[in-house]
Amino acid sequence: MASGIGNIPRTIWWEDGKVLLVDQTRLPLVGDVLVCNTYDGVCTAIRTLAVRGAPALGVAAALGVALWVASESDGIATVDEFLGELDRVADEITATRPTAVNLFWGAERMKALTRDNADLPLPELKELVIAEALAMQAEDEERNRAIGAAGAALIEPGSRILTHCNAGSLATAYFGTALGVIFTAHEQGKVEGVWVDETRPVLQGARLTAWELKIAGVPSTLITDNMAASVMRAGLVDAVVVGADRIAANGDVANKIGTYGLAVLAKEHGIPFYVAAPTSTVDLTLASGDDIVIEERDPREVTGFTVSGTFEPDSPAASRAFDLLTESGAYALPVAKGHAMEITRKGGAYQFDGWFRMAPPGVDVFNPAFDVTPAAYVTAIITECGVARADYAASLAATCSGAGGLDEIRRG
Ligand code: MRU
Repeated sequence: MASGIGNIPRTIWWEDGKVLLVDQTRLPLVGDVLVCNTYDGVCTAIRTLAVRGAPALGVAAALGVALWVASESDGIATVDEFLGELDRVADEITATRPTAVNLFWGAERMKALTRDNADLPLPELKELVIAEALAMQAEDEERNRAIGAAGAALIEPGSRILTHCNAGSLATAYFGTALGVIFTAHEQGKVEGVWVDETRPVLQGARLTAWELKIAGVPSTLITDNMAASVMRAGLVDAVVVGADRIAANGDVANKIGTYGLAVLAKEHGIPFYVAAPTSTVDLTLASGDDIVIEERDPREVTGFTVSGTFEPDSPAASRAFDLLTESGAYALPVAKGHAMEITRKGGAYQFDGWFRMAPPGVDVFNPAFDVTPAAYVTAIITECGVARADYAASLAATCSGAGGLDEIRRG
């Protein structure tokens, strides 16, 4: 496949009154598109990480509400009832994951819109909600391009940049935040290479970021998370750029587990540590990162690993054997005690999804999905409104209050 930034993927979109999304649990080896017919389908996609990444979750929340309005609100006769039900749906969507504030922001914006326009006739109110969700999706892409431009200005020519998790096009409506900075700097000829942290336990770096960078033609090298210290000590990293799930008023940053360790390492090695995020990720209601709720996920993410892929049987006999296995459409195979594999027929090929145990059954597991990096480790926060630096309490408040458009905000 030809590479170039124009080829990066879109992850979620509205089509014929449905929400479509690329199933990120199976990327990069399987590129299934999931069709959500109900808002409950969107909730499942969020919970299972089929759609993920803070800004993409904001868009998913808005599109989920729009989907309910378009397909599931026909029986509602009055605006009052509509407002009550829409609030319930929005709250159900936000109950799916606790950390990324964009999810709450997306849902809250839909609630506020309907409250503010409660004097409209119901059909018009419904159209307004759907139009707003689509506008939020377009705005997210615009914001990411602005973040990319502001962040690329901080990148020195010849930079080797380390990133963690996936803050790319897949994690947003399009283009990405941290990867938006990298894509833009690459277009400006400033990027010598990107170190991609694999990002245990779900491997968003190895599966998603490595794939996006490859598609975009940005030179990159995959490392396991525990190699970052060593490449920094060897003088091979010039900047760290990551995304964020929630940024508190004092500049503390919640992001994928492992980010805090990278920030400490960057400080120790004199490497700038940049956070790229839209202002919708800044939560001025929280004084510090101590107040951010950190999601804990299924222990099976740590005790085993999941693989998805496709294969074509190489002989008619193998094909017939697999056809028998998958006669009913899908075959769940306990491949060994504690492991499981499912094979699904897809046209002439077969898709498999397996979970394989690595750790002993019954082992205790701690699996927080995010950590908090104290503001003192953050060199700058790159938003669509400009670059905020310490003192973050002042600079973030100014950035988020519409004093944006500034190239750089530096206080204290
Ligand atoms: O659990 P995930 O995959 O949703 O976590 C995503 C991250 O931590 C990203 O770095 C963050 O959402 C920023 S995405 C632009």
